[in-house]
Order: sequence, then C-alpha cells, then structure tokens
Amino acid sequence: MAQLWGGRFTKETDQLVYNFNASISFDKRFYEQDIRGSIAHVTMLAKQGILTEDEKKQIIDGLNGIREDVENGTLEITDKYEDIHSFVEANLIDRIGDAGKKLHTGRSRNDQVALDMRLYTRDEIIELDGLLKEILEVLLKLMKENVETYMPGFTHLQKAQPITLAHHMGAYFEMFKRDRSRMKDIYKRMNYCPLGAGALAGTTYPLDREYTAELLDFAGPTLNSMDSVSDRDYLIELLSAMSTVMMHLSRFSEEVIIWNSNEYQFVDIDDAYSTGSSIMPQKKNPDIAELVRGKTGRVYGALTSLLTTMKGIPLAYNKDMQEDKELVFDAIDTTKGCLALFTGMLKTMKFNNARMEESAKHGFTNATDAADYLVNHGVPFRDAHGIVGQLVLYCIEHKKALDDMTMEEFKAISSVFEEDIYDAISMKTCVEMRNTIGAPGKAAMEKVIAIEEAYLVTE
Ligand code: ARG
Repeated sequence: MAQLWGGRFTKETDQLVYNFNASISFDKRFYEQDIRGSIAHVTMLAKQGILTEDEKKQIIDGLNGIREDVENGTLEITDKYEDIHSFVEANLIDRIGDAGKKLHTGRSRNDQVALDMRLYTRDEIIELDGLLKEILEVLLKLMKENVETYMPGFTHLQKAQPITLAHHMGAYFEMFKRDRSRMKDIYKRMNYCPLGAGALAGTTYPLDREYTAELLDFAGPTLNSMDSVSDRDYLIELLSAMSTVMMHLSRFSEEVIIWNSNEYQFVDIDDAYSTGSSIMPQKKNPDIAELVRGKTGRVYGALTSLLTTMKGIPLAYNKDMQEDKELVFDAIDTTKGCLALFTGMLKTMKFNNARMEESAKHGFTNATDAADYLVNHGVPFRDAHGIVGQLVLYCIEHKKALDDMTMEEFKAISSVFEEDIYDAISMKTCVEMRNTIGAPGKAAMEKVIAIEEAYLVTE
C-alpha cells in the first residue's frame, strides 16, 4: 500500500499495523471540511505568489470535482487510503497531475487535521444550537398555554407546594437556555484558524495566515503553532457542554417516565414515541425517554475518555489525539439525536391537567399556606407550623384534605381559623399569591414568558 510518506521507508506497512493506524473509516465524515480548507489554503498560496494562478485554478477545480463526485456517489471514499487527507490529495493528483502535488505546500497533516476538526465542530455547534432553540420553542409554547394548569411541585419526590405546568416547563427552559449560551461561548473561544502552524513550528513559506483565517470565517489565526496542532480543549469543552445537555435531558426523561407511570398518569406519551411489549399486551412503554436517559452515559464517557487521553501528551502533535474523532463524533450524533427525539416526544405528549390538579390537591401542598394564614392573623410562625402539623395529622387519620375540613374541625384545633381559611388555602390562592419574579403566580409567570419570548426573537 503506497503511503504519502513512503519515501523514507524500506518495508511495506504490515496490514494489521496499517489498519490500526488508519483513520479513514471515521475521518471520511469531514471530507467537505477537508476540501474547504484546502481551497482556502491554495487561494492563499496563490495570493502570496507561492502557486501560480493557473495552478490554483486547476487545484480548486479538481477539489470541487472530488466534492461533487463524492456527493453524487460516483466517487467512493474507500479504506484504500490511510485517512481523508490522503484520499483527497491522491485523487487530486490522479485528476490533475503535477499541479495536485503542490496542494500540500506549506502544510502538514497536523495543522490540516486541526483545521478540519475545528471546521466540522463549528458546523455541528451551530446545529446543536438550532436543536436547543427548537426545544426552547416547544417549552415556551407549553408555558404560554399552562399558566393556570396546576400541578404538585415536589421536593424529595414528595408533594411540596402547588405550582403550574408553565412553571415546571420554565425550569427546563432556563436549563436549555444556559446550554445554548455554553455553545455560543465555546464557538467564540475556538474560532481561530490553526492552518499555517505546519507540523508544529510554522513554515518557511511566506504564508498569510490572517488571510486564510478570513477566507474560512475565523476571527483570526491561532497565535502559537505548537498549541495550534495539539489543542483539543475546545472538544473537551464541547463534550462537557453536551454532557450537561444530556444531563438535563436525562432528568427531564426521568420525570416523563414517572409522570407516564400508572401511578401518576400526569402525561400520555404519543403512540409514535412509545413502544409495546412482546408479551404483555397492556404495555405502552416510555422507551424514548429511557433511551435518552441511558445514552447520557455514553456522552459522559466520551468526556472522561478525551480528558484522560489528553492528560499525558507532551507537546506537540502525538497520534493519541486521533482518538478525539470517534469520541466526539459519537457524542455529537448522540446528543443531536436525543435532542431531536425528545423535542418530538414533548411536542406530541398530552398532559392530563385534571389528574395533575387533583394530585396537587392531595398531599397537603397547601400546608405552608395554612401556616401563613395563621401568621397573618398574629400567630408566630413556629406555633403556626405546629398547629398545621396537627391539622395534617388529623386529616391523615380521617383520610381528608385540609380543604375538606369543616369549620368546627378547624376551630377545634385553633380558634384563629375563620371562614376565609378556605379561600386562603385554595389551589388558586396558593399559586396566585406567589408573585415574586421566578415564582409560579400568573403575573410573575407572564413577565418571565415575555422575557423568554424576546430572547427567542433576538437569539
Ligand atoms: N489522522 C490523524 C489524526 O486524526 C491526522 C494527522 C496525522 N498526522 C501525523 N503526523 N500522523 O490526528
């Protein structure tokens, strides 16, 4: 097998060694970015007088031809080549002859792969951001429609205080909004062009690195050639941000699974997003949510793997870094897939409003409000807490909610209670009185919804 670097070698590479070393099976995925980078490189070389205008034209036409043929299926990327860079260069030479041999002037595969991976990652960050925006749009719609849909809010998975579905969805809105801002930060920090770093120490050719960076829409060239070929920080940051996205999706999935259980019945997952059992005919399983929860581990794994791979690598390029690709590709595919599917599931899921409200009524979610009522009538909070504790105990014994107690029963425990207690502890009051910004009361929620709406318009 002829290699790009065969000149110095006297023996052919052993097949097993060759296979172990090769990356084409996975780096073929960035053929488009490789070609885009090469076109920018030769454009710069010609501007600097390193290539003639004619050579530039021949190379660019050849590269565009390769891209078209790969896209229309007439040219197959086979594992006859070690990596995508060798594939493109060998094909170019086959097509245009000697001019093709000049493509790699002033370039190493080390800065080339650093560029390709950045271009690829940059494109994917934009897609991830778009998918995050889609889930935010679905969440905002649910928020707008459900400012008066009451449900229990939980702590320790025990009913705590009543909230609304809008408020619950709003919590996830904040999480995915932060995820988007992490994507934006990573994009900004990584958006510098490593091409021109050469193998590690730049090159003797008079390259115009600012110009190449500009052609490829980077903010500028990277400032240290050794760092340029060995920096994988941006991938670690992306894996970390995607791990956080997955953690959010996984928590949300867990809630959907609980809400979909026979005991809760807060939601009905659409048939299109559930599966049946091969043996139990009654089953409708929340497999999509379970898979999203399950796949979270894969993305965390990629983060841990790459951190570990990078920790012992001396400067500058080492082949260990080729391991970044499969990890990052898999993590990106997984995160994108999970975001898209989860969004689809959320969009089609039916919320059982009556059931949620009924659940919020039971479980003493208005106990805090009953205590607040007493405080408003001059009882110190600690005493009020104790009195309501007695009410709860009484209700448990008599299997009733606070709202179901008669006036006599209230009075028997504390003479402070009057007729207006019923209104004070009604579901509506409990939620509507909570109107500090960020709380579930309708007025507060509407302010937040307006802020989120404006955010989605501008970002
Ligand atoms: N496939 C390699 C990678 O992904 C490309 C760079 C190869 N450079 C080298 N000196 N072997 O990292």
